[in-house]
Amino acid sequence: MSTEILSLKIDELHGELEKIETDLLLIVIDHKVLALYDKELDFSTIKNKKVIIWKATDGEKTKSLAEYEACTDYFLSRDIHRRAHLVAIGGGAISDFSGFVAATLLRGISWSVIPTTLLSMVDASIGGKVGINSKQGKNLLGVFHEPTKIYLCESFLKTLPAVELISGKGEVLKYGLLSKEIEELILKKAPLAEIISACIDYKKMIVLKDLKEAGERKFLNLGHSFGHGLERIYQISHGEAVILGTFLIFLMNDRKDLILALKELMRKIELGPLQSPWRGKSLPVDDLLYYLNKDKKKTENDRLDLILLEKVGSPFIQSTEIKKIMGLLEERKDDIKNFSL
Ligand SMILES: NC(=O)c1ccc[n+]([C@@H]2O[C@H](COP(=O)([O-])OP(=O)(O)OC[C@H]3O[C@@H](n4cnc5c(N)ncnc54)[C@H](O)[C@@H]3O)[C@@H](O)[C@H]2O)c1
Repeated sequence: MSTEILSLKIDELHGELEKIETDLLLIVIDHKVLALYDKELDFSTIKNKKVIIWKATDGEKTKSLAEYEACTDYFLSRDIHRRAHLVAIGGGAISDFSGFVAATLLRGISWSVIPTTLLSMVDASIGGKVGINSKQGKNLLGVFHEPTKIYLCESFLKTLPAVELISGKGEVLKYGLLSKEIEELILKKAPLAEIISACIDYKKMIVLKDLKEAGERKFLNLGHSFGHGLERIYQISHGEAVILGTFLIFLMNDRKDLILALKELMRKIELGPLQSPWRGKSLPVDDLLYYLNKDKKKTENDRLDLILLEKVGSPFIQSTEIKKIMGLLEERKDDIKNFSL
C-alpha cells in the first residue's frame, strides 16, 4: 500500500494542505463537518493555491449518481487540470464518493483523505476501494484508487454523534475478531488512539498483500454480506449492521463460542446491549435474499464467499450457496427472532 498516514493535530492540517504539490486543491467536504469546523478549516487562507470547494450533501446521501454528476460538473466548469489534487474531508461516505470522483475526473487525479469519523479512520479511508451506490444496491459502482495521504486527526471524534461512534466501534469489533492482537487491546481497554492505530496497521498489512481482493482482503468483509442488506432494509448505521451480520454468520454456523467472544468485546468497548431492528419478529429473509443476490462478491453458481473464523484471529473464506444460506437462516429463525447482544 503506497498511502502515507500522518497523525497530527487539527491546527496542523492547514500547513499540511499547503505542502501538497499542486497549484489547485479540489476539496470535497461533508457540509456538516464544514459547519462544525469552519474556523479550524478556513481554506481561504491557504497560500499559493487555488482552492475549489464542493460542499457535499452529507453521509450516505452523498454516494449517489445525482451528487456525482453535480460535483463533477461543478469542478469541470471551473477550469481544472490533471495535476489538481483532491482532498476528501468527512466520514467514509465522503471518502468513498471523493475517491470515485478523483479516480474518474479527467481520467484520474491524485487525492488524500482527512477522515472525521471513527469508521473512516479505522477502515473506509484506507485501501483505495472507492465508489457510489446504485439504485440496485450499495457500492455497486466503483474502482480502486488509493489516496496519497491520510491525515489522521483524532480530535474530530469529539463532535461525532453517539450513533456514529457506535457505528465505528462496529468496525473496530470486526478487527478485534480478525486479529488476536487487536482483541487483546480491546479486552485490556487500551486507549482508543492505540486501538485505532492497530486497526490501521492490520488493514494496511492486508491491503499490501491483496489490493484487489483476490484472497485475504475478503476477510475484511466479515459480517458485511448480511450487513449491507440490513443497513438498507432498516436504515441502520454501517457498523451496527456489520455487528448484526457477524452475529447471523456465527449463529448460522452454530458457533456459540464466537458469539460469546463477540459479546465480550462489545462489553469491553462499551457497545450495547444491542437489540435487533426486527425485534421479536422474523428476519425478513426475502429482502435479505434480494441484497445477497446483489452482493458484488457473489460468484458463479450463486455462491457467496462468507467469512468465518476458526477461532478469534484465524479467519477463513467459506464459499457457500445462497440457497444454503437461506436454509440455515430458516432453521435458526426462532433464535434469530429473540436474540440480544
Ligand atoms: N471503502 C471502504 O473500504 C469502506 C469501508 C467501510 C465503510 N465504507 C463506507 O463508509 C460509509 C460509512 O462511513 P461513516 O460511518 O464514516 O459515515 P458517514 O460518512 O455517512 O458519516 C456519518 C455522519 O456523521 C457526520 N459526521 C462526520 N464526521 C463528523 C464529525 N467529526 N462530527 C460530527 N458529525 C460528523 C456526517 O455528516 C454524517 O451525517 C459507508 O458508505 C460504507 O459503505 C467504505
